[in-house]
Amino acid sequence: MIYRHGHPIPRVKYTEEEVETWGKIFRKLRELHMRYACKEFLEHWDELAVYCDYREDNIPQLEDINRYLKSKTGFQVRPVAGYLTPRDFLAGLAFRVFHCTQYIRHSSDPFYTPEPDCCHELLGHMPMFADASFAQFSQEIGLASLGASEQEISKLVSCYFFTVEFGICREGKDWKAYGAGLLSSAAELERTILGIQDGSVELLPLDGERVFSAELVVTDYQNQYFFTETIEEAKDFVRNIANSIQKTSELRYNPYTQTVDILNSSDKIIDLAKDLRGDLCLVASALKKVQEKDTEIDTELIANYLSRGLDITPYQSRPSSPTSSVSPTKFGESLTIPTKKM
Ligand SMILES: [Fe+2]
Repeated sequence: MIYRHGHPIPRVKYTEEEVETWGKIFRKLRELHMRYACKEFLEHWDELAVYCDYREDNIPQLEDINRYLKSKTGFQVRPVAGYLTPRDFLAGLAFRVFHCTQYIRHSSDPFYTPEPDCCHELLGHMPMFADASFAQFSQEIGLASLGASEQEISKLVSCYFFTVEFGICREGKDWKAYGAGLLSSAAELERTILGIQDGSVELLPLDGERVFSAELVVTDYQNQYFFTETIEEAKDFVRNIANSIQKTSELRYNPYTQTVDILNSSDKIIDLAKDLRGDLCLVASALKKVQEKDTEIDTELIANYLSRGLDITPYQSRPSSPTSSVSPTKFGESLTIPTKKM
């Protein structure tokens, strides 16, 4: 493989047989995606077709996908020849870099592969990396891995595996897949969703510690899968795990410099708070304008997202401080979001 960082990703000339294998997988998966893929996945598929030439008779090129994702969510893809260590792979996600294979599985078994190949990466992962919220979620797993112990890396790998690779969520009464391992394997996707419906496949809620003892099967179908009602809930679960990792300082990815800032001083936290306040004010202002035209907008949901995880108790107001007259404050309390009356 010839690739140097900063240079365009070399285009691969696939053989006729390889394009034929891609076409078989593409057609079968498209049919199953319409039934079993989550809405975020389906939403981004059409753009991939337009900007990256996703067609049944063409294997898209990483360089085109790289350009598209960069403009869409800031994610970049980088070619690799095979598996990386979990720590290296997760560290890439911290910088919004996804390491991708370019080869394709053997034509003898088009609907299942134990190893990631371009069908897995392009047909399974890419639509989700084009979703801004999911891209951020993936990056958060990566950021949590920086400086983590081996034991903590292993926990993050389980989180990644049972969400980004094999995650299931609910849309109304239907079970939908958002994990790329499922969305790129016609055989496993169909067997899993139908198996969940008839009870022959074990589906567990993604909560508590059991996900960390679940076996990560890489050469066969999974023994069980984990679900949340929404992808947002899966994010919350992973964020709680990430927050439990003992680190002396928090890290934040700076999208302007594409570097990681260490939040280890009050000045840095104040600067970040100023940035966030600007964004929060923008949300409130945009919401007011949209509300003038759309009274049905779910402001409660938006307020909920904003308030979750923002509890900050000023140091002086700790109960042990007898002189304190400062009451606990919610960060961004000046932000007023009118919620819907019930
Ligand atoms: Fe994958």
